[in-house]
Amino acid sequence: MYLDTRICELFDIKHPILQGGMAWVATGELAASVSKSGGLGIIGAGNAPKDVIKEEIKKVKATTDNTFGVNIMLLSPFVDDIVDLVIEEEVSVVTTGAGNPGKYIKKFKENNIKVVPLVSSVVLAKRLVRTDIDAVIAEGTEAGGHIGDLTTMTLIPQLVDAIDLPVIAAGGIADGRGFAAALSLGASGVQMGTRFVCAEESTAHEDYKKAIISARDRDAVVTGRSTGHPVRNLKNKLTRKIDNMEKGGIDKKEIEEIGSGKLREAVQDGNIETGSVMAGQIAGMINEIKPVKEIIDNIIDETIEIINKNRDYIKK
Ligand SMILES: Cc1cc2nc3c(=O)[nH]c(=O)nc-3n(C[C@H](O)[C@H](O)[C@H](O)COP(=O)(O)O)c2cc1C
Repeated sequence: MYLDTRICELFDIKHPILQGGMAWVATGELAASVSKSGGLGIIGAGNAPKDVIKEEIKKVKATTDNTFGVNIMLLSPFVDDIVDLVIEEEVSVVTTGAGNPGKYIKKFKENNIKVVPLVSSVVLAKRLVRTDIDAVIAEGTEAGGHIGDLTTMTLIPQLVDAIDLPVIAAGGIADGRGFAAALSLGASGVQMGTRFVCAEESTAHEDYKKAIISARDRDAVVTGRSTGHPVRNLKNKLTRKIDNMEKGGIDKKEIEEIGSGKLREAVQDGNIETGSVMAGQIAGMINEIKPVKEIIDNIIDETIEIINKNRDYIKK
């Protein structure tokens, strides 16, 4: 048995599961493993220049012929170069983070690229559906990384009611219970970030993975609200420092500077006290490093089991 939703045909994937295009974490290795296992692997371009992302794309193409995507961070200084790169490399799916991809959509569509923006409100989604996008990723505030205000539970049904395109649920999903809930809310699939950071094939530093494994339910906190760019990351020396600066009314520019480059430090160097260990609230439930294929196969099996089991509640 398997799950077949609108996005399986749209992206030509077996399982309706996207791996979040996480800056520094979503390398070619991780994306390749996810695509090879039937999900949609996504390379996170973050703030990296074109040549670096070209190498990551090469890694995926050397591993699998299955569909994969690239996440374009719209605030990147290299955004125009990355847009050119995905066209040159004939990448089939682009997801976008940090804003409105409006000005690039025509170019993507002329090159047969599926466009899937990440949204955290109905307003932005409604504006985007007037352009030629293919689906949206709706991310709740439970998620790791940069976040909006609404929870996944409240955002998904409101978005599903507001737009006709497939909605992919993100934020707080890491097992079959979350997946079945997302489907019940009307989503056509899920995107997981934090769960895949702790995949065997993830190249994130072992200490980063261990920090997620040992995190408890309330450890993934939000910093940077005062800057207008809130980030969910695990409580540590850095989050306490930023917290104190925010409480002390320190200028938002100074706070942004403190946070700059800190994700890379944590992911690559394993500085889990002074770096930004971005992770979602679901970190408290993740307690094992597993191969990507096992993560995907398990969540599909669990979701089907839960959907079947829920039928027991129905009485005549
Ligand atoms: C370490 C990390 C880095 C992330 N970087 C990005 C990014 O560069 N672009 C983006 O669109 N989303 C980014 N995200 C969000 C994920 O793509 C995904 O939507 C989110 O992790 C889903 O919530 P979850 O962590 O609860 O699974 C990041 C998430 C994490 C944990």
